[in-house]
Amino acid sequence: MERTRVGLVGVGTIARTHLAVLAERSDVDLLFTVDPVATAPGPRPHYPDLPTALASHRPDLVVIATPADSHADLAALVLADTDARVLVEKPLVLDPASLDRLRGPDSSRLFTAHHFAFSPEVRWAASLSFGPVTAVTSAFCDPYVLKGEQAFTSYVSPWADSGINQLTVLARLVEPVAVTSLAQEGLHAWATVAYRSGDTSGEARLRVDWRTGASSKSTALSCGEVEIRLDHTAMTGFAFRGGDLLASFGTDGRTPRKIAHYRPLYDSLLSATPDPVLGFDVAAALTGLHASARTPS
Ligand SMILES: NC(=O)c1ccc[n+]([C@@H]2O[C@H](COP(=O)([O-])OP(=O)(O)OC[C@H]3O[C@@H](n4cnc5c(N)ncnc54)[C@H](O)[C@@H]3O)[C@@H](O)[C@H]2O)c1
Repeated sequence: MERTRVGLVGVGTIARTHLAVLAERSDVDLLFTVDPVATAPGPRPHYPDLPTALASHRPDLVVIATPADSHADLAALVLADTDARVLVEKPLVLDPASLDRLRGPDSSRLFTAHHFAFSPEVRWAASLSFGPVTAVTSAFCDPYVLKGEQAFTSYVSPWADSGINQLTVLARLVEPVAVTSLAQEGLHAWATVAYRSGDTSGEARLRVDWRTGASSKSTALSCGEVEIRLDHTAMTGFAFRGGDLLASFGTDGRTPRKIAHYRPLYDSLLSATPDPVLGFDVAAALTGLHASARTPS
């Protein structure tokens, strides 16, 4: 079996999930980690910056798990200086101009960790066949008010951080075509997104809020008279029409939520045919939608 040699850049919160999922794979060797602040998470070589690491190693895959405003520079560096594939945390970049720097023949080596598309209840909902989606309302709440200003340093804004996750869920379930409105007010935001589903058009309503002490994420979908409820925190779902339960989904409760996202993400990335939701074209389309939103005057 050919083993994939991986370098991990950024050893913060989400890196812990990458490290845990990489550690359980027999087809992966972690070569090095990079972080100017955090200390080495293990016995492998650890560097303060990526160029120093790349001077000593030839990875097959570089995982970039740093704050969003550093993604474009770091991804461009790996694409220019190595033949490695790059997995960048979401959002790939924050603006279309940065996308242009990454576009080109090498963008086929560039992947984005749109992890919410791999959440078990989202994949379950995508497998249902109740016809076109006629309504979507989604609320993603994270306890980032507790982080103070650090929340904005790591995650930029509620829409930048959670909005892209909600667009990722939409991309799995419908075809989002435009962000039709966005109102952001400090720690919370409200957006509407036009989408197509089969021969139907609709407008999804997206709510993001950091003013909470607990994480809670859910999406309600309608397919005509059929209602689907997804609890992304519990990773459960059910579908009903009137008083009749039509389908339901749950897990065995043994897999922590982020592991449940990243395990199938890495399965797909390291397969011969990675899911298109990881690829550059989807990231470019979502970045365009994400960045096109304007606060109404
Ligand atoms: N925290 C989560 O639950 C979560 C989930 C999914 C995706 N993400 C995404 O992952 C990315 C990182 O989020 P986080 O929560 O881990 O942030 P974090 O602030 O906890 O960690 C980021 C780490 O990157 C390091 N870093 C900054 N610039 C660097 C550079 N140039 N080279 C090497 N290391 C550098 C920092 O020192 C820090 O240790 C963000 O894009 C975020 O949207 C986070």
